[in-house]
Amino acid sequence: MVNKLILGDNLEVMKTMESETVDLIYLDPPFFSNRDYEVIWGDEGEVRSFLDRWAGGIEHYIAWLKERVEQMHRILKPTGSIFLHCDWHANAEIKVDILNKLFGRNNFRNEIIWSYKTTLKVSTHHLGRDHDIIFVYAKNTEFKMHPDQNDYPPSENTLKRWGKYADANGFVSNKHFAGSASTIINTEDETKGFNINHGVPRDVWEISHLAGNNPEKIGYPTQKPMELLERIIKMASNEGDIILDPFVGGGTTVAVADKLKRRWIGIDQSVAAVKVTDLRLRRQHDMFSQPYELKLRKYDYNMLRNQDAFEFETWIVQQFGGIPNTKQRSDLGLDGKASDGAPIQVKRADNVSRDVIDKFFAAVQRSDKTLFEKNKAAGKPVGYIIAFSFGKGAVAEAARLKNKEGIIIDLKKVNDIVDYGTGPKVSITSKELEDYKYLLEASAESDAGIEFYSWDFDHKPEEGFKADVVIDRDGKQVKQFEPGEHHIAVEAVDKEGLEGTGDLKFKI
Ligand SMILES: C[S@@+](CC[C@H](N)C(=O)[O-])C[C@H]1O[C@@H](n2cnc3c(N)ncnc32)[C@H](O)[C@@H]1O
Repeated sequence: MVNKLILGDNLEVMKTMESETVDLIYLDPPFFSNRDYEVIWGDEGEVRSFLDRWAGGIEHYIAWLKERVEQMHRILKPTGSIFLHCDWHANAEIKVDILNKLFGRNNFRNEIIWSYKTTLKVSTHHLGRDHDIIFVYAKNTEFKMHPDQNDYPPSENTLKRWGKYADANGFVSNKHFAGSASTIINTEDETKGFNINHGVPRDVWEISHLAGNNPEKIGYPTQKPMELLERIIKMASNEGDIILDPFVGGGTTVAVADKLKRRWIGIDQSVAAVKVTDLRLRRQHDMFSQPYELKLRKYDYNMLRNQDAFEFETWIVQQFGGIPNTKQRSDLGLDGKASDGAPIQVKRADNVSRDVIDKFFAAVQRSDKTLFEKNKAAGKPVGYIIAFSFGKGAVAEAARLKNKEGIIIDLKKVNDIVDYGTGPKVSITSKELEDYKYLLEASAESDAGIEFYSWDFDHKPEEGFKADVVIDRDGKQVKQFEPGEHHIAVEAVDKEGLEGTGDLKFKI
């Protein structure tokens, strides 16, 4: 399986997934809370989803979520588990009306408390609400779970009580706690005793929210710390396992899964979320990263045109419902077969000319004469040519063959098979404000409208685009530079998720 990042309503996407194929699901759905807090991206996809959930009260929200968790339960492997992230707004209903019903009370494993110590406003009505809840359920008793896969910090009590007995390596010998009422589970080495530096895995996790200057921070609300996901992924999966995040947001789960060599699927209904995740994965890309497929509503014309020719041929034949020719070079230059066996030729080009038709026609007759005659007699296409567009000569020749000889060569345009568009055209201008301090402005031409810009201030074309600033709604940055040569790149992402790049080299 190739890793996938998919734009769409997770309900629809999950319905197309096979049963029992996923090892671990983490979901961080939008909470049942007030609007301002909840809308993160503000794009069309998210607002639609928001309206979906808010058409009614809590019952409606629970029904909305339950339908989705039903799919999650179906696609989990028998050894799989689910981690559902929620908070006080709806945790009671989620547990009783969704998880206990679908997974069964017996398969409840934990209620993890993520305690994040935020500075809270004082309320006269309630205490500071300072934690989220992550429910853990297994699909059944054969679940995969290794709670000790992480380094847990020791609790304060452990340190206070046992610290004074610990040797330089943190070991407290057995004689000190023999007979003690505390049950000590952490015994890596029976003879050495337990190590106070390694905490016992507990269900209360102290992990702070990402601080403003944390390099992990991308710049959108609700971003979860990687440490949280690291713990979950390590404890409930192995390398190579498949992890699904159906509400992927800015991509924390898939970014961590990728680092930990798990395979992954991320889904989000918001174009902005999917593209932020895409840029985040590209930013962390190194030689160990795995390739992934990005599924938007539309394909990018430039990407299709510049893709490896063989990959493109294989892919478009499959999209057409045919069977690609797996041999890189066939003697007749045919790239695949339609479902009835009729030959397909792919030209990754525009304005395909008449001689392509002539050659194809000859090849079709030579490849399978019987099939050719049969299709001709039945008035069905004897073959298909797929291209971005066809020139006048080609169109006229296909018409002539059909009208004069009763032979149909079907000319299929790529956009009859898949939808594609062209990303924005972008340029950068710079203006020195004071010494070495510049105002950089991106301007983009786009029919769809721009969703956001991303900046790479130290662009190295051979490494690809590595965003320093991932989300910039206005396309304006003020930046201090050192003297020397600079190469800056900007990517503009439009409302369809298609992107365009511009760059600027300058010397100070
Ligand atoms: C709380 S955020 C997830 C944040 C994420 N855990 C992170 O660390 O970045 C919830 C996400 O769910 C998405 N979403 C809401 N309804 C959806 C639906 N029906 N299908 C797919 N995604 C949806 C929103 O667009 C939003 O990005």
